[in-house]
Amino acid sequence: MSWSATVLTLFPEMFPGSLGVSLAGRAMREGIWSCEARDIRAHALDRHRTVDDTPFGGGAGMVMRPDVVDTAIAAAMPEGDTRPLIYLTPRGRLLDQRLVQELAAGPGAVLLCGRYEGVDQRVIEARGMIEVSIGDYVLSGGELAALTLLDACVRLLPGVMGAAESAVEESHSAGLLEYAQYTRPAEWQGRAVPQVLLSGHHAEVARWRRQESEAATRERRPDLWTRMQVAGGGAAA
Ligand code: 6GU
Repeated sequence: MSWSATVLTLFPEMFPGSLGVSLAGRAMREGIWSCEARDIRAHALDRHRTVDDTPFGGGAGMVMRPDVVDTAIAAAMPEGDTRPLIYLTPRGRLLDQRLVQELAAGPGAVLLCGRYEGVDQRVIEARGMIEVSIGDYVLSGGELAALTLLDACVRLLPGVMGAAESAVEESHSAGLLEYAQYTRPAEWQGRAVPQVLLSGHHAEVARWRRQESEAATRERRPDLWTRMQVAGGGAAA
């Protein structure tokens, strides 16, 4: 069975977007995964095709109606659909590589994209949605977050990544930033590539890269570095 994404959105034309090209696009054409974008507005209940309304209690913006969203979900998820239902929102738990791996290992995902003022909380609860954010900044809608989540999942599906070793390398360095990379020319604008990388000594190269990864993580992401130390240095994600 191929990994299947269904996206519920007011802007279905944003999909597959960037996922239609490069690695993900090829994998889609090969049938490794699929992406179905469904227009929430098609499930509006009135002739004006209303999907949102003003928030109870007052305030700016509009809130997506629970009845419309629920009907859209019911139509998108056949009986017995076991895929997790994810609502993309800056209020959600932060997306990380662990969640990406979990999702990629499953049957796919149903992604609900709201306008950022949000979706009525009752349908989020009634449907047991997992609320997910991609970072501490506010996008104008969940669509770019959905594309981001899908990109991260799809590249992990078997047969998608060019070099199978890329995934192995990644798990090896889990919790650390990647080491810096260099290519030809060996000297450019007076800057030399680290000598060890030209040495041909694989063990030396591996040691240098590990050190570079650790130094970069300590300096740039002390939060990740601390978590790594707590988790026991390397093996843990
Ligand atoms: Cl998932 N949605 C929106 N609208 N903004 C975000 C986000 C999601 N994650 C970070 N910012």
